[in-house]
Amino acid sequence: MNASLKCEPVIFIIFGATGDLNQRKLAPALYNLYLDGWLPEHFAIIGTGRTEFSDEDFTAKLQEGIDQFSRSGKTKKAQWEAFSKHLSYQVADAKDTGSYKLFGERIAQLNAEWQVEANVICYLAVSPSFFETIATNIHKAGLADNRERTRIVLEKPFGHDLETAQSLNGLLRGMFSEQQIYRIDHYLGKETVQNIMAFRFANNILEPIWNRNYIDHVQISVTEQLGVEERGDYYDHSGALRDMIQNHLLQLLCLVAMEPPISFNADEVRDRKVDVLRAMRPFSPEDVRMNTVRGQYSGGWMQGTEVAGYREEPKVAPDSNTETFAAIKCFIDNWRWQDVPFYVRSGKRMHQTASVISIQFKDVPHKVFPSETIESWQQNRLVINIQPEMSIRLQLQAKRPGLDMLLNTVDMVFDYDGTYASPSPEAYETLLLDTMLGDQTLFMRGDQVEAAWELIMPILSSWQGRKSINFPNYAADSWGPEAAEALIARDGFHWFSLPTKAKQK
Ligand code: BG6
Repeated sequence: MNASLKCEPVIFIIFGATGDLNQRKLAPALYNLYLDGWLPEHFAIIGTGRTEFSDEDFTAKLQEGIDQFSRSGKTKKAQWEAFSKHLSYQVADAKDTGSYKLFGERIAQLNAEWQVEANVICYLAVSPSFFETIATNIHKAGLADNRERTRIVLEKPFGHDLETAQSLNGLLRGMFSEQQIYRIDHYLGKETVQNIMAFRFANNILEPIWNRNYIDHVQISVTEQLGVEERGDYYDHSGALRDMIQNHLLQLLCLVAMEPPISFNADEVRDRKVDVLRAMRPFSPEDVRMNTVRGQYSGGWMQGTEVAGYREEPKVAPDSNTETFAAIKCFIDNWRWQDVPFYVRSGKRMHQTASVISIQFKDVPHKVFPSETIESWQQNRLVINIQPEMSIRLQLQAKRPGLDMLLNTVDMVFDYDGTYASPSPEAYETLLLDTMLGDQTLFMRGDQVEAAWELIMPILSSWQGRKSINFPNYAADSWGPEAAEALIARDGFHWFSLPTKAKQK
C-alpha cells in the first residue's frame, strides 16, 4: 500500500456476507482500517446472502466476529456505533438477476447522497461454484461498467486445474478488464511476505550473493498443526498440492527467486514473478516419481488431545486418496538458479505450525580452522520466518568468547516484536486497502495463476491416476511421511528444524 494515497468514497458489496470469511477476516479487517483512519468519510458495506437477516441482526453478527477475531480486541461502544452506521444487509439470491438491480439502485442512491461517483468493490466471499453466476450477473446488471471505478475480488481457489482456471479467467476477461479483477492469495498480504521484496531489493549487499554461485539450496516449509477441521467437503476435492503449493508456496518461491523489478509497478512486479514460474523445469513422469512425495495423516495425539485421522474427518471419504501433505523438489532453469534445488513442503496435522523460508549458502571454499576449534559448524543460512515467529535470521559462524579459539553458530536477528512497537496489520487489511486504492501488486494476475497450474498439472494427473497404496502414511504430530525425509536426504540435506518460539495455533 502507498501511505500517501487516500481512499476515495467506496461501496463494498460482500457476497456470502453471512459466511465465515466475512466474520473472521473481512469484517475485522475493515473495522481495523476504520479505526486506523484508512477508510474515507463516505463508505458503505452492503452484505448480501440468501439467508434473511435484518440490518440489526447482520450488524450484530459481524460485531460478534470482530469481538472474537480482530487483532485489536473487542469493539468499543462509541467506535462500533459510528462504524456500524455504514453497514447494511440485502437478502438476495445470487442466481436471481433481479437482485442485482437492487444493488444498482442502492449504489445510485448513495452516489446521489454523497454527490460523488464512489468506487464499487464486489467481493465474492463465496464458494468458487458461484463465481461464474455472480460475476456474470454483476456484469449483466451493469454494476461493473465503469472500468476505472469498479472492482471484483475473488478468493482462491482459482480453478481446480489448468483447464478450469483458463476457463474461469476467460469468462472473467470477457466481462471485466484485468485491472478490475483482484484475485486474492492472502499470503501475499502478510507483513513478513511483503518484506521479502523490501529485504531483497532495498539492500545492496544481498544481490551479489543471491544466486547459484553462493546458494546451495532453498527450503520453503509451511506446516500446520490444524487438521482439515470443518472443511472436509472442500478439502477432499482439493488436497495439499492444490490448496497450498499451487498458490501460497509457489508465490513464496517466486518472491525468493524473481529478478529485481525495474519499478514497484504492479505489472512489472507480477511480470518478474511469472518469469520464475515459466522458467521452472517441467515435471516429467520420472520427476514426479523421484521428486515429489504425498502423504495423508492418521489419527493420534496432538498436545494431549486425541485427534482423528484424515479419513475419519467429517465429510471426507473413508477411502479418500486426497493428500494432506505434499513435498516437491524443483528447479528453475535460468542463469541465476540453474541446478539449485528448491525443496517445498506443506502439510496438515504436523508437529509444528510454522511458515519458514531457509536459504542455505555454500560452505567456505577452504577451512582455515583446525577441527579441534570447531564446536559446531554450519554453512551460513538465512532464515525468513513468516509466521508465527516473524523474523529474519542470518546464521553465521563466530568465535565463542574465551581464551581459546572455539567456533560455533550464532544468529544475527531482525525480530519484528523487538524492532517495532506497532502491531503488524493482518493480511486482509493490507489487501482490502490495496483493493480500495486500486493497487494490484499483491494480487494474482490471470497468467500467474495459469503458469502455476501448468507447473503442477503433471504431478496432479499422476497422483490422481495412481491411487496411493500406503495412505495414511504419517501420524498426526509428526513431520510427515518418511519419503519426504528421503526426498531431501538423497541429496545429502535434511529439512531444517523450525523455530520453536511459536505462539502455536
Ligand atoms: C488457506 C488454505 O488458503 O490457507 C487452508 O485453504 C490453510 O487450508 C490456510 O489452512 C493457511 O493460512 P494461514 O494464513 O493460516 O497460514
